[in-house]
Amino acid sequence: MKAEQQSKSYQQYFIIFILQVFVVFLIFNYSTFNKDSTIVSDCSTSLLSSQTEADLIVLLWTWPFGSRFPLNQCAKPFNDPRCFMTANRTWYNRANAVIFHHRDVCSSKTQMPQIPRPEGQYWVWFNLESPSHSPNLGFMDNLINLTMSYRSDSDIFTPYGWLQKNDLVHNFTIPKKSKLVSWVVSNWNPHSKRVQFYEEMKKHITIDVYGQFHLPLARQDIHTAISKYKFYLSFENSLHKDYITEKLWKNAFKSGTVPIVLGSTRENYERFIPSDSFIHVDDFPSPKELADYLLDLDKNNQKYEQYFNWRSKLWPVAEVDWNINYCKACIALHKAPSYRSLPSLSKWYT
Ligand SMILES: *[C@@H]1O[C@H](CO)[C@@H](O)[C@H](O)[C@H]1NC(C)=O
Ligand SMILES: *[C@@H]1O[C@H](CO)[C@@H](O)[C@H](O)[C@H]1NC(C)=O
Ligand SMILES: *[C@@H]1O[C@H](CO)[C@@H](O)[C@H](O)[C@H]1NC(C)=O
Repeated sequence: MKAEQQSKSYQQYFIIFILQVFVVFLIFNYSTFNKDSTIVSDCSTSLLSSQTEADLIVLLWTWPFGSRFPLNQCAKPFNDPRCFMTANRTWYNRANAVIFHHRDVCSSKTQMPQIPRPEGQYWVWFNLESPSHSPNLGFMDNLINLTMSYRSDSDIFTPYGWLQKNDLVHNFTIPKKSKLVSWVVSNWNPHSKRVQFYEEMKKHITIDVYGQFHLPLARQDIHTAISKYKFYLSFENSLHKDYITEKLWKNAFKSGTVPIVLGSTRENYERFIPSDSFIHVDDFPSPKELADYLLDLDKNNQKYEQYFNWRSKLWPVAEVDWNINYCKACIALHKAPSYRSLPSLSKWYT
């Protein structure tokens, strides 16, 4: 009796469902056929934007570091169909915003547009390098309207990674560990704080260094190699507020190891990641004491595993590419104030 009632109500739900699908189908077709015919002929439109439906035209003044990627293909949640991006400079006079990637234009002022700026056009300054590696910032004084960088106080915030709520789609288990400390580094400057810290630390603990001038490691093997280590040296090349790069997000977090960070202050890191997800070099009076602490942790698995507690609630996102960053710009530009200017970029970017 009960089962019969249930199956009847399932039938009803099914009919309602079919009706809904039909209505949605009608609405969808109606709206597509009312649009410009060029859009209808392109079946992959749902994630694509096109210049005809866009109310915002964004010009990439250069491809960042010359690397090309498909434009106007923004995946959720960064899709914005009302935005049209192009790298074709003939759009300059019609563009609502022009994005300048700092390292591609900073060699000379003549790399910037030499013809007047159309009224109302935003000039967006984009940079993911730290101030220490961003020459000629003064070129940008009194030119820029909006900033786009890893700094969280940028108009368009484009960090190297972030944490998102763990939705139980991603279950984390600590990879099997057979080694202690590793570091992958290519830019070896003996005078840098990070190399000096390493030189002192390695007197007290074994550290395997990979990269140019060190142990060989193919790019595609990085994660597998690092994941075998309990700790990873996420040492930044320079120390600046919010400057937390793929050395933390990709190398350490994505490999399932515990980062030892050298960069901005612990307080600054804690704005982005849980306090118990990393070890900061400043937590110890000297590299020796840090090494001693790691050797202790090596003997105490329970304590070591606590560095992974946050993983039940949070999941690291590190696959941030150019595409995502420029897609974010489109979304932010739609919300930008109608007037904004940054008198001195060089004073702000320190
Ligand atoms: C740039 O756009 C113009 C005008 O739409 C077009 O004539 C030209 O072929 C484009 N250039 C490139 C390299 O796509
Ligand atoms: C992850 O773990 C939760 C809780 O133990 C479980 O309900 C869920 O099905 C797991 N997800 C996957 C993809 O294994
Ligand atoms: C952008 O900044 C320039 C230079 O400060 C200024 O002249 C222009 O009015 C600003 N435009 C917008 C749309 O804010």
